[in-house]
Amino acid sequence: MRWNKVFSKTGLLAVMLVVIGIGIFFYERQYCGAEQPARYETQQLRQVITVDSKTSRTIMWQTAAPESDAWVEYRLQGGQDIQKAAAQGKEFATDSGTVYQQSVTLTGLEPASVYEYRAGSGKEFSDWHTLQTDGGGAFSALIFGDSQSLDYNVWRQTASAAYANDKAAAFFINMGDLVDNGEQYSQWRSWFRGAAGLLPQIPVAPISGNHENYSLQWKPYKGDLYLTLFDLPLNGPEGLQKQAYSYDYGEVHFAVIDTQLEELKDWQPDLVARQVKWLENDLADSNKKWKVVLVHRSLFRYQDGKPNELGAALLPVLDRSNVDVVFSAHIHTYGRTAPFKNGNVAGQGTVYISSGRSGDKTWAGSRAKPQEVVFDNVLDQPNYMKLTADSHKLTVTSLKQDGKLIDTMTLTK
Ligand SMILES: [Fe+2]
Repeated sequence: MRWNKVFSKTGLLAVMLVVIGIGIFFYERQYCGAEQPARYETQQLRQVITVDSKTSRTIMWQTAAPESDAWVEYRLQGGQDIQKAAAQGKEFATDSGTVYQQSVTLTGLEPASVYEYRAGSGKEFSDWHTLQTDGGGAFSALIFGDSQSLDYNVWRQTASAAYANDKAAAFFINMGDLVDNGEQYSQWRSWFRGAAGLLPQIPVAPISGNHENYSLQWKPYKGDLYLTLFDLPLNGPEGLQKQAYSYDYGEVHFAVIDTQLEELKDWQPDLVARQVKWLENDLADSNKKWKVVLVHRSLFRYQDGKPNELGAALLPVLDRSNVDVVFSAHIHTYGRTAPFKNGNVAGQGTVYISSGRSGDKTWAGSRAKPQEVVFDNVLDQPNYMKLTADSHKLTVTSLKQDGKLIDTMTLTK
């Protein structure tokens, strides 16, 4: 009798569970399943800088297989009006096999606005991500020295710490030598993984370094992989597009110069001369309050601080064009000069900043150049910089990965 009671209660419970289960199955099928396509898996989803961040933004990502119907949908944050732009597919061979990539540049955006976008293919789509346009006023940007690493977790930690310290950063610059070997795709995967906390949210503005121009055999290499992975502005000199380019953000004009004269001499023997001419015109055409030039290699010799071949070619243009700050990289140490012009420190002119390192590669033998008023070889931990600018003030703050202050510099006009 007792067992019968137990059995009947258990049986009743089982029947109820089956009925509930069937109900949930049909409810989900009717109200959820049909409306929810499979989640679209993007790899290396990234925003890339454009010439005018007030109205445009490039979105790129990789996919596991070729896709003919990839797109980006976007809307003003919280808005109902969704717009759609078709992406352009590309496939290319790497040492890790064929890579499938999508790219689309959104145009006609409203300045000073927060958008949401998602990538998709067919009826599948990713999560929404935010995208903010330039309002033309005050902003901040993060700047990272060489991220090439044996362990790209170090780059990830630096990038994450910097973004956590400045969640309002509008974009980030990587000063070149993003990876140790520019032709090895697994390193690019590691680099993208390291920046995955930033790239879907804010655009990257990269610069090519010498390590982007090394082949798998450590021979000079044209840097095709770097140039393919970032659809950068095409406003550089003819034949050198994306290697050199320029863009505006807020009150600042940024110009990027390719300094790989050694690695590229077989293909581009006149690399520097062509860029010098372009740079002078580019800077003259800008009416922005501040002018910033970005180079991977320093314009000065390490030994004595005198201009090297690059410096001899570029310094006259920088002086004539009243460039405010030149950032360089390559030596993995931080250094800042006082402003100087025509070789004279007279309280005005251009400030030269060696940006340090965001990865794990250090150079213990580096020494301060005579003209550097602040120097730190950042052996203890990586560093990053934060640039803030408005119409009257430009500030560069250099911090170590843990947030410890190295240096801060403010220019006013
Ligand atoms: Fe370098």
